[in-house]
Amino acid sequence: MFYLWIKAFHIIFVITWFAGLFYLPRLFVYHAMATEAAGRERFKVMERKLYRGIMTPSGTLTVLFGGWLLYLSPGWLSEDWLHLKLLLVVLIIFYHLYCGILLRRFRDDRNTHSHVWYRWFNELPVMGLIGIVILVVVKPL
Ligand code: HEM
Repeated sequence: MFYLWIKAFHIIFVITWFAGLFYLPRLFVYHAMATEAAGRERFKVMERKLYRGIMTPSGTLTVLFGGWLLYLSPGWLSEDWLHLKLLLVVLIIFYHLYCGILLRRFRDDRNTHSHVWYRWFNELPVMGLIGIVILVVVKPL
């Protein structure tokens, strides 16, 4: 029962983290297209609040609650699906940190990528989400 409560919160933080992982690069798309200074300043505030206020706390809590599940049920550690899942999680953490680098470039008006580049960049977390959900629910390995 306690395990299920931890799992419920793990999933809640996954959802809030991914809301940001999907929306922040979307803001980058529009920011890269913005021509007016006032508009760009507004994007900077939205991006910073989303990253620092929602995404980083949610990602941290996802990992902490996931680790808690492993502590309560260490048998999962010998399963291949978990190893592959953790590899995908590491890639998503790198994606998250890279978003932080892009955010600082926009903040300093040093963005070098086009809106089309951000549209493709925006698709990467979708792959991670599909892979992880199939691994944890179907456990095909
Ligand atoms: C270091 C990070 C993470 C660790 C250690 C971790 C670990 C775990 C563990 C041990 C379970 C329980 C599996 C079960 O009871 O069947 C679980 C469930 C789950 N995890 Fe994670 N997880 C992490 C990150 C993530 C991420 C990033 C996502 C989503 C993209 C995710 C999505 C899920 C889902 C949807 C479940 C529920 C599966 C089910 O009950 O059918 N996890 N996680």
